[in-house]
Amino acid sequence: MNAISPLAEYNDYRLRLDQIPETVCEVLDDASRKELKTRIRKLLIEQNAIMVAHYYTDSDLQLLADETGGYVSDSLDMARYGNESDSRTLVVCGVRFMGETAKILNPEKRILMPDLNAECSLDIGCPVDEFSDFCDQYPDHKVVVYANTSAEVKARADWMVTSGSAVDVVRHLKEKGEKIIWAPDKFLGEYVQEQTDAEMILWQGSCVVHEEFKALELQELRKKHPQAKVLVHPESPAEIIKQADFVSSTTGIINAAKEMDATEFIVATDNGIFHKMREAAPGKTFIEAPTAGKSATCKSCAHCPWMAMNSLTKLANALENGTNEIHVPVDIISRANVPIKRLLDFSNSQKQLAGDA
Ligand code: 13P
Ligand code: SF4
Repeated sequence: MNAISPLAEYNDYRLRLDQIPETVCEVLDDASRKELKTRIRKLLIEQNAIMVAHYYTDSDLQLLADETGGYVSDSLDMARYGNESDSRTLVVCGVRFMGETAKILNPEKRILMPDLNAECSLDIGCPVDEFSDFCDQYPDHKVVVYANTSAEVKARADWMVTSGSAVDVVRHLKEKGEKIIWAPDKFLGEYVQEQTDAEMILWQGSCVVHEEFKALELQELRKKHPQAKVLVHPESPAEIIKQADFVSSTTGIINAAKEMDATEFIVATDNGIFHKMREAAPGKTFIEAPTAGKSATCKSCAHCPWMAMNSLTKLANALENGTNEIHVPVDIISRANVPIKRLLDFSNSQKQLAGDA
């Protein structure tokens, strides 16, 4: 293990409980849901707009995105798709860094979001000034940041990565002899370090959803379901990852549910993903990995409070009133574009290599 301990003052980026909102999902009767969907369909056409949604958002939003020719995916493919679509407006249903990434890649487009308060604990836990000071202390290191960061933090980075690309990018950098500053997710960083044996200094951020999965309770659950395969997102703590049959990004988890020869799965990631897992593997059973439930520390209970801020009502309002537009300063766009494009080019070349092989 080459990982070097981070400096003490950067050691604890756990959010205070009052920085984490309650997870509140919109509850609608059938008539209101139908009426809202009809309004949104019309607005999307009138405004040459397209929905790009993350797997953790409400299933109504995912269904509507699919049905209206939009796109539902993980953060890497959301970025890629936004870059390729020729719609004038992208409505990003997810969290703010996803909207900002869409804007950075498509500065000429209007990017709307249902709720601009939809943050991410990793993004909040990595303020640009502290992060920049941290990086300044290691000028000979490449700065690799996870997609779940602000546009300003990306502007300070050499590379952006997502959960689906982090191991490949870091391995590539290690092969070139590079040392790495990694931010913000310490658990994903530890996982990547373990997979690649790269020399990495880790920022100490975490995801309030994934850090709440409980290792002992997972062991107990596995005893009750001995046939179940355990699928884990790498933002989870190492004791959870150790118990996984498969560790992957959200897209990888959905594909595994379809492709693995099992009918029962325990899933350690946001439960919003169950919608696509059930679509991809109908008839299979999906069980939430255990959290502490509504307790002093756990407010999220396997569903991201910020993803839950996306709702049909807010989406209709944003389109109707042209509110909740994402703006990123021009100089930040031009600097943040570099690490994002680097990742997209790298992942396209990897895809090509895999296709040629
Ligand atoms: P993915 O890129 O795997 O979709 O992860 C994004 C995320 O925010 C996970 O918590
Ligand atoms: Fe951020 Fe975690 Fe929510 Fe993903 S699930 S957006 S990492 S807080």
